Amino acid sequence: QQTTEHITVEWRGRVGIITLNRPHALNALNLALGAEVVAAAAAMDTDPSIGAIVLTGSEKAFAAGADIKEMAGRSYADVIREDFFSVWDRFAAVRTPTIAAVSGYALGGGCEVAMMCDLLIAAENARFGQPEITLGTMPGIGGTQRLARAVGKAKAMDLVLTGRMMDAEEAERAGLVSRIVTTDTLLDETLAIAEKIASMSLPAAYAAKEAVAHAHESTLAAGVQFERRTFHATFALADRAEGMAAFVEKRPPTFTHA
Ligand code: CAA
Repeated sequence: QQTTEHITVEWRGRVGIITLNRPHALNALNLALGAEVVAAAAAMDTDPSIGAIVLTGSEKAFAAGADIKEMAGRSYADVIREDFFSVWDRFAAVRTPTIAAVSGYALGGGCEVAMMCDLLIAAENARFGQPEITLGTMPGIGGTQRLARAVGKAKAMDLVLTGRMMDAEEAERAGLVSRIVTTDTLLDETLAIAEKIASMSLPAAYAAKEAVAHAHESTLAAGVQFERRTFHATFALADRAEGMAAFVEKRPPTFTHA
């Protein structure tokens, strides 16, 4: 376990856990926190002994948005020069499966970062929203795009234009959330899912994740073609031969992630 200024990083077997730890600001995403998360996630992403990455916050807040106090004094010239928030693009580009474990507030940038993850596990007390409009601005870490793709135009417009929050039930019905669990079991349930994913062949997981992500980037025909070629490519994996042989021989597979 390693604790830096704004996060804690843990390794449990093949699962990496990044916990946002800025309680006095409800885990608001300032630039320093973003840099720490991205550095930790990038290190785990290039470590073949990690097969799944969990991102979580506290019971009260996954993250209550970008840090408004840090943004308040910036000008247009400042944010365009800094390419403000582009640091999070590296998190979205992680190839290892990622899971957001969300309890409490996931607002603004908090909701946007949760949506970058492959699975989103919500505690019963989770609240999602894009309240930037109430600050005279709008989402800027992918919220308009990922929310619209996840829940469709009707609900994305509702949330982005009114700034209202939706609870875990509504978020699951809308397709934003993979599963809802009780608040006190959030981390245990998420870790069980992460361990399951991390026990699979990592190169097969990269391929499967990339193909699902492709559904948002291409036409159906191009996506199916990409999937077909990627599926064919898994036949180059020792893990593919092992997985099928294990099924035929009625035994559990031993994946070597090769
Ligand atoms: N930035 C900076 N500080 C924040 C913050 C944020 N996004 N959210 C909460 N905090 C701070 C509060 O200022 C407060 O600090 P002080 O004790 O120093 O006053 C502390 O966290 C606790 O917050 P509250 O007292 O407000 O707690 P609450 O339980 O009464 O309310 C809340 C909780 C409804 C989440 C409320 O804090 C809130 O509305 N937060 C802001 C939500 C928001 O607008 N997020 C969008 C940010 S913009 C963005 O994300 C841009 C983008 O997409 C790129």
